[in-house]
Amino acid sequence: MTPIDTVLDQALTRVTDKVQATIPVDRQVRAAHLVKKAKRFAGLETPLVFTEEPIPDPADVPLTEIDLSNPFMNRQGKWYPYFARLRDEAPVHYLADSPFGPFWSITRYADIQAVDSNPKVFSAEPYIVLGQPPLEIEMFIAMDPPKHDVQRKAVQGVVAPRNLKEMEGLIRERVQEVLDSLPTDEPFDWVDRVSIEITGRMLATLLDFPYEQRRKLTYWSDTISGTAEGTGGTTHQDEMFAAGEELARSFVALWHDKAARRAAGEPDGFDLITLMQTSEDTKDLIKKPMEFLGNLTLLIVGGNDTTRNSMTGGVLALSQNPDQFEKLKADPSVIPNMVSEIIRWQTPLAYMRRVAKEDVHFGGQFIRKGDQVIMWYASGNRDERKFENPDAFLIDRPNARNHMSFGFGVHRCMGNRLAEMQLRILWEELLARFDRIDVVGEPEYVQSNFVKGYSKMMVQLTARS
Ligand code: HEM
Repeated sequence: MTPIDTVLDQALTRVTDKVQATIPVDRQVRAAHLVKKAKRFAGLETPLVFTEEPIPDPADVPLTEIDLSNPFMNRQGKWYPYFARLRDEAPVHYLADSPFGPFWSITRYADIQAVDSNPKVFSAEPYIVLGQPPLEIEMFIAMDPPKHDVQRKAVQGVVAPRNLKEMEGLIRERVQEVLDSLPTDEPFDWVDRVSIEITGRMLATLLDFPYEQRRKLTYWSDTISGTAEGTGGTTHQDEMFAAGEELARSFVALWHDKAARRAAGEPDGFDLITLMQTSEDTKDLIKKPMEFLGNLTLLIVGGNDTTRNSMTGGVLALSQNPDQFEKLKADPSVIPNMVSEIIRWQTPLAYMRRVAKEDVHFGGQFIRKGDQVIMWYASGNRDERKFENPDAFLIDRPNARNHMSFGFGVHRCMGNRLAEMQLRILWEELLARFDRIDVVGEPEYVQSNFVKGYSKMMVQLTARS
């Protein structure tokens, strides 16, 4: 870039920022929606739709045609055998054509760690999923240093150890409320009544969001992260934009309401909005609407599916491994280690995407500047080079904490301690109440190439005798 380009670029950014600051964020989302609709109307863009077909066994597919981005891989139980083949035969694998364009797949633990720890070469910008999300929101998970570091620092206090300590009692109370309302000796949907309920309550607490409207947080999060274009999901673009608009309006109102209550003398809480309003770096974030929206959306999406699917995955893993459940009952002090093993076994987010900033030789391959590089955490967590007997679920696995479900380096999950705390409390409270937790029938899986999750899982509880 020449100095003139740089000056022009900076001037343009300043003008865009000023214009954006004057337009309410929900209107900006609506404007982006109108642009998308116009493009569709003019035939410039066609929404993606995926139809499920049986996926062949990996041995029957030529290596060069293996496509890990198929959003039905998890549902059909095919991801793990495909990962295993790539780890052995092509650990840095190139697919020349997919619905999401060409991409590299990194499937071994050590290689994933190397890519994730090198943001100078592998950029998280402009988004971290394989497809292009219809609405690009500025989130620090998809920013490189130094901008990333400033934004993360501004909000990370909400999950700092002191804040978590404050929250622990409240989270326990809410978990107890949910568990005490469950039926015994008859099947019910664990996803809806426990995993979504507890995660929704936790998010409402974190954001000081109206408690009775907490299901909206779940709906917005699922809708925004579930588009076909972004993750191979089932959400239509129009529904996603409508959810984005409603979310934006609600959070702007929440910000102003909180500011008014604080001005009227209400003591400061430990929620995210208060934290933003009292921190020098973020007290004016409302004037940068897209950034404001991005930071809140990141917290909601980051803390939603992930913890929820770990709550469901843990029950499934223990139900499939009754010997481990007996071991747990005999020694509940293993719970913290078991929580790590659940998060390794489940790997709630299958991957993060990076883009090569320069040509680079990696793992015997030549990755070109601009290429998409997918770090398959779900594969790294089952890499036999790192974990002995990796497909087994072992609550006392010695190196369970070395799982890669939270990523590495500058983007390592900001909410990891909070997620672990919630899962620990859930299991402590479950053990205090129930002798058996049986999964009844097959769980139903989410259609996605990003979220490794469950849409329904019927469970039957037996109370402690
Ligand atoms: C980042 C997974 C829970 C907030 C991430 C990343 C992963 C991840 C894979 C990206 C790491 C990388 O790029 O190297 C998980 C899993 C969770 C979980 C598996 C639960 C089991 C949470 C919770 C919150 C949260 C409860 C919020 C309260 C975030 C944020 C980031 C992030 C804000 C961005 C960090 C950055 O870019 O600096 N998470 N997450 N996560 N997560 Fe989580």
